[in-house]
Amino acid sequence: MTCDDRPVAASPTASGSAFLLACRGEPVPHVPVWFMRQAGRSLPEYRALRDGVPMLEACSRPDMVVEITLQPVRRYGVDAAILFSDIVVPLKAVGVDVDIVPGTGPVIADPFRTAADIGRLRPLQPDDVSYVTESVRALVGELGAVPLIGFAGAPFTLASYLVEGGPSRDHARTKALMHGEPEVWHALLDRLANIAAAFLQVQVAAGAAAVQLFDSWAGVLSLTDYQQFVQPHSASVLAQTAHLGVPRIHFGVGTGELLGAMGEAGADVVGVDWRVPLDVAAQRIGSHRPVQGNLDPAVLFAPTQVVHASAAAIIDSGRRAPGHVFNLGHGVLPATDPDALARLVDFVHAYPA
Ligand code: CP3
Repeated sequence: MTCDDRPVAASPTASGSAFLLACRGEPVPHVPVWFMRQAGRSLPEYRALRDGVPMLEACSRPDMVVEITLQPVRRYGVDAAILFSDIVVPLKAVGVDVDIVPGTGPVIADPFRTAADIGRLRPLQPDDVSYVTESVRALVGELGAVPLIGFAGAPFTLASYLVEGGPSRDHARTKALMHGEPEVWHALLDRLANIAAAFLQVQVAAGAAAVQLFDSWAGVLSLTDYQQFVQPHSASVLAQTAHLGVPRIHFGVGTGELLGAMGEAGADVVGVDWRVPLDVAAQRIGSHRPVQGNLDPAVLFAPTQVVHASAAAIIDSGRRAPGHVFNLGHGVLPATDPDALARLVDFVHAYPA
């Protein structure tokens, strides 16, 4: 391969970043840190920009995507940016009638429940999300040495929205379809895996330096159900993105019992929520995979010395893994004080790697 063929992620500036080094399990100058849902949420400058603009419209406007993605990088000095978008963006792009209702989350006008519904999910073409390509290209120019993380929703988490029609506590309809009509289930997840993989490919082709597969709701599954009905499809997404040469992070909430299986799905880095200490998680995942996590987002509402003591314990625990990317155990809560996040970034950067 000549220099000219090298993907953007392999440029000298980006590849030397602490975030990418940790993802590869290489020595780092400091523990890298970014926050899930760092873009949007608690920032006043985000709320001002979003005023009157529906969420999915904001995701389709490169000017807004670029500005919102950059806001937390400027304010916190995090080691990575994450694209401002949403897991339902590629679903909308292939024609699914989905809206994001403030305070609720994604709502699907006509839920997917039968074999006939599967036909409504066509493959994602890059042209369907040309605004994502445009946004990522512009961002890579603005970010310089700070890597951009692209992302997609994993097949199970996407399916749970499509089948339930919106957020769900018990995922009863999703599990009923999974167990009652396994052929329909696997056909649905197969299509979703291809859409997720295509969405990740678009982002990396435009310059994203890493990707994260969010299987936020996988923790509602037993290990055997996960292995039988979900893991093969997440593994498919990860296999379809392996050749891109960027680190692939795989994350879910409440997945303590699934960590081994999530590692086996083939990601480079496994994200861990706050319920399992990182040294225990590293043992479950396997000693060759770096980990990401895992401060309880609610701890940020405690006094600073408590937050920092918790962060120190997490970094010490993360030494058990070959690499550690500091993060929260789930997304930033909307009421979080931005200054608490800024102080946390400074603390993590100053703490011995
Ligand atoms: O900073 C970032 O993390 C980047 C942007 C991002 C958003 N959604 C923006 C967003 C990312 C990575 C996501 C992923 C996402 N979306 C997930 C997986 C990650 C996770 O936290 O588990 C899930 C499950 C969704 C679906 C979704 N979209 C939910 C549950 C919500 C919250 C609804 C609410 O208002 O409580 C959304 C909306 C959403 N996505 C917002 C943002 C900034 C809030 C919308 C707003 O500000 O109006």
